Amino acid sequence: MALRMNSFIILVCLLNHLVACEPQCSKFDYEEKTLAKMIRTEILVEQVMSDIKQLKQQTNDAVTSMESMKTELRESIQSMHVENALKLEEYNNTIMKWKDRLKIKPDVVFLARDPTTQSPSHGSTIIFGTTMYDVSKSYDNSSGTFTVPVAGVYAFTAQMCLNTGYNNHIYHAIVADGQIVSNSLTYDGDTRFCNTAQAFVVLEQAQTVYVSALHTSSTPLRENHSREWCTFSGVLIR
Ligand SMILES: *[C@@H]1O[C@H](CO)[C@@H](O)[C@H](O)[C@H]1NC(C)=O
Ligand SMILES: *[C@@H]1O[C@H](CO)[C@@H](O)[C@H](O)[C@H]1NC(C)=O
Ligand SMILES: *[C@@H]1O[C@H](CO)[C@@H](O)[C@H](O)[C@H]1NC(C)=O
Repeated sequence: MALRMNSFIILVCLLNHLVACEPQCSKFDYEEKTLAKMIRTEILVEQVMSDIKQLKQQTNDAVTSMESMKTELRESIQSMHVENALKLEEYNNTIMKWKDRLKIKPDVVFLARDPTTQSPSHGSTIIFGTTMYDVSKSYDNSSGTFTVPVAGVYAFTAQMCLNTGYNNHIYHAIVADGQIVSNSLTYDGDTRFCNTAQAFVVLEQAQTVYVSALHTSSTPLRENHSREWCTFSGVLIR
């Protein structure tokens, strides 16, 4: 019985072996080939992946360098802008300076004479009633006031001729923009003569200039139409 059992086991084993051998042998071959193929594919994939990674790196590098080029370019354009703006400002300033200097100013010159009264009161404006000439029409012969038509450096004169008479005198002043810029005293009892006050003044447009009788005796002024003139004149120098 034991022998029979052994023989049966051996037979089963043998059979089992025979049955399994044939298909198992070819399956192994197939799997081996598949495995090899898989390995090759894997190597290839790894290669491709590495290539892609390298390509990605190169692309990233290129993008980074393009970004930095862009930044550099932007910065240099900006600095060019700033430089140009500064240069432009400099040119503009120079042009403006010269434009101002070269500005053609109108002729401003006037002469008035013949005070409306021989006896101006203390502190009054001496009104020279006769306008001899006034190119810019800036002197008002009804108020005695010159109004600055254009800013600049002006010269003014104011001449007073003294009448004869005891203790005759007149202090007179040129008043520009409310300030006395020139003073004069004409004082004598016996002789007749004239005194002139003059001033050079920098004035702005619309400021006014007039002659003031600061202090006077009763009838100080003499206006001899042929030989002695009381005058107020002004001219724009530049
Ligand atoms: C040039 O300068 C003047 C005066 O400073 C200014 O009014 C003007 O706007 C400037 N022009 C330019 C183009 O910068
Ligand atoms: C006074 O001034 C006005 C206006 O400028 C002028 O027409 C007139 O002739 C002047 N009068 C005298 C007397 O000069
Ligand atoms: C002007 O002065 C002259 C010379 O001194 C004199 O002969 C004449 O009478 C005077 N005329 C007037 C209006 O004062």
